[in-house]
Amino acid sequence: MPRSSVTATTDPVTGSPAWPIGTTIGPDGHVVVGGCDLTEIAREFGTPAYVYATDDVRARARAYVDALRGRGVEGEILYASKAAPFTALYRLMREEGLSVDVASGGELHMALIAGFEPDRVYMHGNNKSAAELRMAFDAGIGCVVVDSLEEIALADRLADREQDVLIRLTPGVEPSTHSYVRTGQIDSKFGFGIEGGQAEAAVTAVAASRNLRLAGFHAHLGSQVYELEPYVRAIELMADFCRPHRPRVMNVGGGLGIAYCNADSPPSIEAYVELKVDALRRCFDPLPRILLEPGRSLVGNAGVTIYTVGAVKEIPGVRTYVAVDGGMSDNLRPMLYGSRYEALIANRADRPATVTSAVAGKHCESGDILVRDVALADPRPGDLLATPATGAYGHAMANNYNGVPRPPIVFCSDGRADLVVRRETVEDLVARDV
Ligand SMILES: Cc1ncc(COP(=O)(O)O)c(C=O)c1O
Repeated sequence: MPRSSVTATTDPVTGSPAWPIGTTIGPDGHVVVGGCDLTEIAREFGTPAYVYATDDVRARARAYVDALRGRGVEGEILYASKAAPFTALYRLMREEGLSVDVASGGELHMALIAGFEPDRVYMHGNNKSAAELRMAFDAGIGCVVVDSLEEIALADRLADREQDVLIRLTPGVEPSTHSYVRTGQIDSKFGFGIEGGQAEAAVTAVAASRNLRLAGFHAHLGSQVYELEPYVRAIELMADFCRPHRPRVMNVGGGLGIAYCNADSPPSIEAYVELKVDALRRCFDPLPRILLEPGRSLVGNAGVTIYTVGAVKEIPGVRTYVAVDGGMSDNLRPMLYGSRYEALIANRADRPATVTSAVAGKHCESGDILVRDVALADPRPGDLLATPATGAYGHAMANNYNGVPRPPIVFCSDGRADLVVRRETVEDLVARDV
C-alpha cells in the first residue's frame, strides 16, 4: 500500500512515520516538533503535556480538501471532533475550510464557541438526549444524523422547523480493526441495519414526520482501518438501498488508520479519498454531495506527548520499568485496545537506544503500561520521554484517575509555542463538588 504523502520523513533516529511532519533532532540530541525543542516546551509548560505540530494538522486537512476537490465532486470534509475536541483545534479546522461532526452537546458547544457556522455542524450519537437535540435545533445546525426510531420521533417532536437529517446505516461490513472501534457490522448499537429492514423503517418514519427532511444517508465502518476494500463493498451495499430514495447527500464516514509505529504503513489520504469517491461515482447518477468525516487521520500524527522519567526499575533477567509522570489518565488506548506506541528519550534522541524497557504510567494498575517493549537510550530519572501519534483519542479520552490533573495542550509552529489548553489543577478536581 502506498505510504501517506503527508508523513514525517525527517526523524533521523527512527525514520518513523508516526512523528509529526517536520520533526527533527537538533545538534544537541533534542527532539524538535513544529520548530520547538521539546525540552524547552517541558521547561515552560511542565510534563506531561500534549504537543501538536499545527502545520502537520493543516497539511492533512488540506490533503483531504484537495483530494476531494481534485476528484471534481461537490462535497465537504467534516472534522470528526471526537478525535480531539478543544476549541483551538475546532478553530483551526474551520480556518482550513472543514465542516464538523459533533457527537454530543458538549462537542456541539465547543464547535460553536470556536466559531463554526451552525450550518456546517453535523450531529451524531446513538442516544442523543432531548437536551442535546434542543441545543442543536436552537443553534440551527445543518444536519442531524438519526440513529434510532425513538430518536426520529423525539427529533420530530422537538424540531420547530424543517430539519435536514441523514439516516445512519449499518451496511454489515466488518473491516479488520479492533472490535471496540468497529461500527458497521449488523450486530452494532449504531444505526439501522439494511438487511433486517430497520433502515427502510427509518426512511418511512422520517417520511411520515412533520419536521424532518431526509437529506441522505450515513455510514461509518470503524476506526484505525488500513484496508480500503471494505469501503467499496459498504458503498455498494449502501447504494443499492439508498438509490431509490434519491439522496442529496451521502456521508461515507471516516476511519482511515494512521502510523503508530515505524513499521506501520497506512494508505494515503489521497488513495482513501479517491477510492471512496470513485466507488460512489460508480454507484450513483446523479452523484450526491459527498461527505467524509475523518478524525484520527487529521490529528493523530500531529500530536506528541512528553513525560518526565521518574523511577527506572531494573528487574534482573526480567525487564526495566521506566516510570513516567502520566499514563492511563492521558492515554487510555494501550489499556483499552492494546495499542502499540513508540517512545524515545527526547533529550538524548541522537544516542543509541539499547535498553529494552517498558514505559509505565503512575497509576495504581499493573496494566498502566504505555509502551510494553521499546528500546530507549539509557533512560535515567529526569529524562524527557516522548511518545508520538497521540494527537487523536488521547486528550479526548483523558480522565482524572487517581486524582491526576489532565495535561495542557501546546500548539507549535515555526518555532513558536502557544498554550491552548492549560493544565488542570488540583482545585479543578474539586471545583464541581457541592
Ligand atoms: C460516526 C463517526 N464518524 C467519524 C469517526 C471518526 O473516525 P476516525 O477517527 O477513525 O477517522 C468516528 C469514530 O469513531 C465515528 O464514530
